[in-house]
Amino acid sequence: MVRVMENKISDWDDETLDPDDWDELTSLGHEMLDDMMGFLKNIRTHPFNWPTESAINEIMVPLTDEGDGEKEAYELFKRSILPYTGLVVKPQFWGFVVGTGSPFGMLTEMLLAGVNYFEESILISKYTYKQALNWVKELLGFPEVTGGVFVGSGSEANFTGLAVARNAKAKEDMKTKGIYEQPEKMVLYCSDQTHECIDRSVELLGLGNEALRWLPTDENYVLKTSALTKAIFEDRSKGFYPFCIIGNAGTVNVGAFDDFKALRKIADKENMWLHVDGAFGSWIKLSETHRHLVDGLEQVDSLAVDFHKWMNSPFTLACTLVKDRLAHYSTFVYGHEAEYLKSVVEFSQDQLENHGFLALPLSKPAYGEKAYMLLRACGKDKYRRLIQKNINQVNYLAELIENEPNIELTAPVISNITCFRYVSDGLSEEELDKLNHLILGDMWNINCCMISDTTIKGKYTLRVCNINHRTRKYDFDWLVGEIKKSGEKQLKQLK
Ligand SMILES: Cc1ncc(COP(=O)(O)O)c(C=O)c1O
Repeated sequence: MVRVMENKISDWDDETLDPDDWDELTSLGHEMLDDMMGFLKNIRTHPFNWPTESAINEIMVPLTDEGDGEKEAYELFKRSILPYTGLVVKPQFWGFVVGTGSPFGMLTEMLLAGVNYFEESILISKYTYKQALNWVKELLGFPEVTGGVFVGSGSEANFTGLAVARNAKAKEDMKTKGIYEQPEKMVLYCSDQTHECIDRSVELLGLGNEALRWLPTDENYVLKTSALTKAIFEDRSKGFYPFCIIGNAGTVNVGAFDDFKALRKIADKENMWLHVDGAFGSWIKLSETHRHLVDGLEQVDSLAVDFHKWMNSPFTLACTLVKDRLAHYSTFVYGHEAEYLKSVVEFSQDQLENHGFLALPLSKPAYGEKAYMLLRACGKDKYRRLIQKNINQVNYLAELIENEPNIELTAPVISNITCFRYVSDGLSEEELDKLNHLILGDMWNINCCMISDTTIKGKYTLRVCNINHRTRKYDFDWLVGEIKKSGEKQLKQLK
């Protein structure tokens, strides 16, 4: 062994990442807090900017040996990062399915980064985690016995649920034998409105994306159960093994919901697993007027649900609920080789609640505490009101659109999404697509990704997905005005 020789080379024993001057860093911290609170407080008027060349030049530099110091790094953040972040926190942001975070969420992140938890099955985290999960189950109407795990994203939550489904339903032990030694090819089913992360999960689980059967939806974008039973029957007769149905609670394009009671019946009859991607839509359970859309959701085998979407937690936080806790644990538990983790397992007592072992990553941020703090601070009614308000607002937007001769709805307004396009007599479908794409560009120049676009059943469309707690109805009056202005301008240039 080579020893560090005293006096020849320093052993850096005093070196840490703590500040030399705690008062100085504390005062920088206060400044950062004041600035970020001011930023959020005034976000309505905050202008969006595309990154300038000088900002990019300032960012793309070689890493120095000495570093710039915390104060300088923060000055750089204010000067060349913050002004060019996409302003998803603005009241006028309805692109993709992106939550807006909250000031208290930001503060919670600071607290949890301070204690830097990595493991949530021992000490007080065990209780905050368990209680947060209990609250999620209660809010979504799931039975108390349901197990679950907090993870980093909706994609990961779906992956987790589908991994359990695959292992639980495999005819040969999946953990030891793998996918190759299954007697039949395992296949699974979803609607043509399903999010692409399901496809990715299926691929990563080694099933091959050909195993995922995309089935047609009806005029309300609900999976056609007749098509599902037919596909299962045909697959069985060809020697495939149908093992899982994937439903949607809130499709990404139009916010549609499958018929969970009907899917449950089919899954029971066919002895299949029922997984639902409810990344944002599960929370509609909290609305007064639309909660019927998730009737039967509590009967599924596993559910993926996000916090960083409609619950507006800071990125990232999601959850997988799984009914069969043993199947969940067995899928992810480490093998005999993880000697160094055995004491943690002993301390956590209930093996099935050992949250460190219920998803792919071992080290994770303090997801349980984060969910706990946000739910504890806001309670149920705040979220109930916010979710209802977003639904009311997209219906208001739809009314505005219906009163506009040059804008039309392109899909039914089912939950919190309004799809529409600008139209003008005499334009072909191709020209309309081009026109609306140009309008999207104009909107993105106001605030990047402020609204998004998609193609639904072959039709290009603009799309507002409203999970924004800061939006007011008058923001949609403004949006319709901007769409009209842009449509008229682009139309002139097209002609
Ligand atoms: C319905 C649905 N499922 C899954 C996802 C993926 O979630 P995440 O972005 O948290 O990975 C999304 C993202 O928008 C979604 O809308």
